[in-house]
Amino acid sequence: MQKTELLYEGKAKKIWSTEDANLLISEFKDDLTAFNGEKKDSESGKGALNNKISTELFKLLESKGVVTHFVEKLDDNHMLHKKAKIIMIEVVVRNVATGSLSKRLGIADGTALPFVLVEFYLKDDALNDPILNDEHCLILNLVDDVKELDILREMARNVNSILKPFFYEKGLNLIDFKLEFGKDKDGNIILADEISPDNCRFWDVNTNEKMDKDRFRQGLGGLKVAYEEVLNRILK
Ligand code: TMP
Ligand code: ASP
Repeated sequence: MQKTELLYEGKAKKIWSTEDANLLISEFKDDLTAFNGEKKDSESGKGALNNKISTELFKLLESKGVVTHFVEKLDDNHMLHKKAKIIMIEVVVRNVATGSLSKRLGIADGTALPFVLVEFYLKDDALNDPILNDEHCLILNLVDDVKELDILREMARNVNSILKPFFYEKGLNLIDFKLEFGKDKDGNIILADEISPDNCRFWDVNTNEKMDKDRFRQGLGGLKVAYEEVLNRILK
């Protein structure tokens, strides 16, 4: 399958059309951004690592019955996937408090949450991705009805219930992650975007070492080594 037209360029991926109206190609870029694009860099090989990691995780989720947009990995930086109309909500799942949750609510960094927390954020860089409640989602027409929000929550929890034990067995604590969903040609909600250390937090179970984009956000260095380690553990 060949790329035809560039449809969209985001911070971490380019999205291309193909000869098949129902299929798109994502090109994973080496660019790194944080704090809504305020901090920028590039790490050669990062895009290929995220493509590999996402491919493995989409395959795992599909094998457990989660419907995703994934079709196949084409080469190092390209993934073929179904076309889906992206729901403009960033669905964040949290097992442990850190990042913006700790900052906003004053929960000590690293505190295990008493239950899995699912949050919605508006996918809008210009507004700095504000947090949303159900009514905000309906007012903004981000979904058709509250039932669709329940589907997002249920799918997100299901993804967590698959990925959290999978990573724990590999010596990684899945702290939190961000998912995006879309509607396929039949209107079904499917898991889209990517699942990689760019949008998940992984802490080593023994050392609590950060193995994700926080290495870049916090200027810790060693980002590529960490992403390679995540991939190696997934493949183990
Ligand atoms: P946060 O603690 O900064 O809100 O991040 C929660 C999770 O969402 C974390 O795994 C990183 C991920 N994330 C994204 O994928 N994109 C974003 O724009 C932000 C802010 C977070
Ligand atoms: N994805 C956002 C950015 O690229 C924020 C983040 O991941 O920290 O700026």
